[in-house]
Amino acid sequence: MKETKEVQYETIEQAAEEIRRISEEKGSPFTFCVVTFGCQMNAHDSEKLRGVLLSMGCVETESEEADLVILNTCTVRENANNKVYGRLGLLKKYKEKNPYMRLALCGCMMQEDEVIKTLKESYPFVDLIFGTHNLYRFPELILSVLRGEGPVIEIFDHAEMTAESLPSVRNFRFKSGVNIMFGCDNFCSYCIVPYVRGRERSRRAQEILAEIEALSAQGVKEIMLLGQNVNSYGKGLETPCSFPELLERAAQVDGIERIRFMTSHPKDLGTELMDVIAGNPKICRHLHLPLQSGSDEILRRMNRHYTKQHYLELVEELRKRVPEIALTTDLIVGFPGETEADFQETLAVLEEVQFDNAFTFQYSPRRKTPAEKLTGRLSEEVMKDRFERLLEVVKRCAAKRALEKEGKTETVLAESVNRQDEKLLTGRLSNNSLVHFPGDPSLLGTLQRVKLNKSMGFYYLGERV
Ligand code: SAH
Ligand code: SF4
Ligand code: F3S
Repeated sequence: MKETKEVQYETIEQAAEEIRRISEEKGSPFTFCVVTFGCQMNAHDSEKLRGVLLSMGCVETESEEADLVILNTCTVRENANNKVYGRLGLLKKYKEKNPYMRLALCGCMMQEDEVIKTLKESYPFVDLIFGTHNLYRFPELILSVLRGEGPVIEIFDHAEMTAESLPSVRNFRFKSGVNIMFGCDNFCSYCIVPYVRGRERSRRAQEILAEIEALSAQGVKEIMLLGQNVNSYGKGLETPCSFPELLERAAQVDGIERIRFMTSHPKDLGTELMDVIAGNPKICRHLHLPLQSGSDEILRRMNRHYTKQHYLELVEELRKRVPEIALTTDLIVGFPGETEADFQETLAVLEEVQFDNAFTFQYSPRRKTPAEKLTGRLSEEVMKDRFERLLEVVKRCAAKRALEKEGKTETVLAESVNRQDEKLLTGRLSNNSLVHFPGDPSLLGTLQRVKLNKSMGFYYLGERV
């Protein structure tokens, strides 16, 4: 039997042939546009979609009036789904105008039976639908669609293969995500990710390190290790390797200046990881540690496996070992049964920890999750009111923390030329804050010492020193 990679590359050749044929027929290049709706992992998958299409000879465009539009969907909250349905209405109109246009949907939302049913019934103009576990088959699926064999619908309910051998292009020149694991086994009671991304699987450390070495050889300076719960990396591997070990080995790869990782789960975060961060300046001074709620009762019902006290102890330990570290978090308001007192506990933790930033969400019931069956849903009104009060505290703490660095000189990785003002470069601090500063494009990809003259809330204005 042929290797998957061999099949993928042969199919890409065949599809390139089809693309040439279609371009000649329509008298212009065959264009495509990939729209990403989800998290970092979803965005990383989009890099593969783009890599495959570019190697087929398609031309990328930012306009959704392209010959092929792919929506890489997310279903973590209902509003993510609604955005996709909204988009489809518009794309239908484009399709009516362009007889060559093909429309594809993929990503987490496609792993839901209900969604597929709705698409079949109400959106029959979609040409290709595939799920998260079918990504490695993308070249073959596209080839079928190009040959007019649509609509093609292929959803696997579990992972047979990963898509790591597909060609890929990076969204950023100097930084790249690297998958270290797939899926999730935590089953937080509100969360749909384990159902749409499948069981937790870790990639072999050797394979991950080889990928980082290859990225470094291509000029990448910063990598982000990706997984839903990186702290549990390594389970089930033949050659054991823990996450702190992996992080340390990744930091030793020549040419890599910075390493980030996402996401950590408080239940699996240990002091070993904190010590590895403390001892290695290449590991960024930023930890994203989702709290979700400050109430023990809500945390228990969320199936998070930690208490407020445990979370606070982790923060204390971490700040003792890595004092300069920035802490960010995720918060959900309005989990079923959340009382005003529960909510006050969340606010109290925010005041105590003083996060550098937080992503805040209103609880959204997800199909098949245990929380969907809980009673005590909150009204829109209460949810919105708590959300706004939460956001106020988050913003105030974030601005205060940002101000602490004003006037200081820090190291910035120059990542891109500023979109609004070409004389400015844009980069990030080790703690992930954005900085704009005057500079020449020749500095891109290098670490620069920058004085943070002014904190603007979400970013700094600085100058090289
Ligand atoms: N694996 C990561 C997060 C993945 S989803 C982790 O555990 O931290 C990103 C965030 O979306 C979660 O941290 C949570 O805050 C939020 N989220 C997930 N499901 C949600 C739901 N049903 N309603 C509202 N927010 C949700
Ligand atoms: Fe969802 Fe929890 Fe897994 Fe994160 S750890 S992806 S919140 S189930
Ligand atoms: Fe969304 Fe899937 Fe990521 S549901 S948050 S794109 S893993």
